[in-house]
Amino acid sequence: MARVLVTRRLPDGGLDPLAGHEVFQREDGVDVGALGEVEAVVCLLTDHIDARVLDAAPRLRVVGNVAVGYDNVDVAAATARGVVVCNTPGVLDETTADLAFALVLAASRLLSEAERDLRGGRWQGWGIGQYLGQDVHGATLGLVGYGRIGQAVARRAAGFGMRVLHHCTHDTGEQGCVTSLDALLAEADVVSLHVPLTDGTRHLIGARELALMKPTAVLVNTARGPIVDEEALAVALEEGRIFAAGLDVYEREPEVHPRLLAAPRTVLLPHVGSASVATRTRMARVASEGVRAVLAGERPTNLVT
Ligand code: DGY
Repeated sequence: MARVLVTRRLPDGGLDPLAGHEVFQREDGVDVGALGEVEAVVCLLTDHIDARVLDAAPRLRVVGNVAVGYDNVDVAAATARGVVVCNTPGVLDETTADLAFALVLAASRLLSEAERDLRGGRWQGWGIGQYLGQDVHGATLGLVGYGRIGQAVARRAAGFGMRVLHHCTHDTGEQGCVTSLDALLAEADVVSLHVPLTDGTRHLIGARELALMKPTAVLVNTARGPIVDEEALAVALEEGRIFAAGLDVYEREPEVHPRLLAAPRTVLLPHVGSASVATRTRMARVASEGVRAVLAGERPTNLVT
C-alpha cells in the first residue's frame, strides 16, 4: 500500500484503480510540505510539478497527470530523479475535437458577438447586413499538428464538405499533407492548432505567421495558449488582418490578455476542451491506472517517460 497524493477533487470513480492504496485528496493543489512520504501524485494541468516539488518528495515514484498535455510537468527533472510520468492519451480526442469544431463554427459565424448583442438588448431585429460571417462548409481547413485530435477534427470537417490540409514536423505521406507551415497558413480558410506545447512550438503563431493568413481566415486554438502570441493575435484581430479567432487556451491561464478580451470577432472559452462528464471521468481513471501500474511494478501504457 502506497501513499498517493491527489491534488484536487476528481470526478466520481476517477480514483477507483487506486483502491487499496492510502489516497489523500486535496482541494487546492500540491502542498510541498506534505510530500515527504508520498510515493505517487495524481495531478492536474494546473499543478506545476517542477524540481522544487520533486525534491520535496524523495520517495516519489510516479506522477499521473490528468491531461494529455504534460507541459506542466518537468519531465526531464522527473526522469533524472527516477520518477515516471503518465498522462491520458486517447480518451479525450473526440471530446476535444467536438469543442474545436464548435469553435470553428462559432468564430466563423460570429456567434459570440451576435449572442452578446442579443443578451445586451442591442439587437433591433433582422438585418440583411448583420453578423455576416464566413461559410464553414466547403472551406479549406488547415490543421497544424495531425495527431489523434487533429485527425478527429478532420473527420468532423469531412461532414461539412471541407477540404482538409495538415502540417506536421514530418511528411505524413497522407493526402492533404503540406510540408511548409507558411504554405498551409496562406492556403487555409480556417487554421486549427493541435500541437503540444514545447520549446519548438512556443509562439509558433506570431505576427509573421498571422500576416501570412488570409484576411478572411479564422484561427482556432484548443491546444495550449503559449503556441500563439496573444498580443500579436489581438493586433491582427483589431486591424482586421485575420477575420476571427476561437480560443479555449491562453498564455497565462486563468489570465486572458486584456487586448484579446476587447478584440473583435473573438470567441473565448475557459479551457473546456475535454469538459464532458464521461471524458473527465475517463481521464481521471486513465491517470490513476497508470499510477496503479507503476506502483505494482508494471509498465503502464500511458507512459510519457
Ligand atoms: C489536456 O488534456 O491536455 C487538455 O488540455 C485538458 O482539457
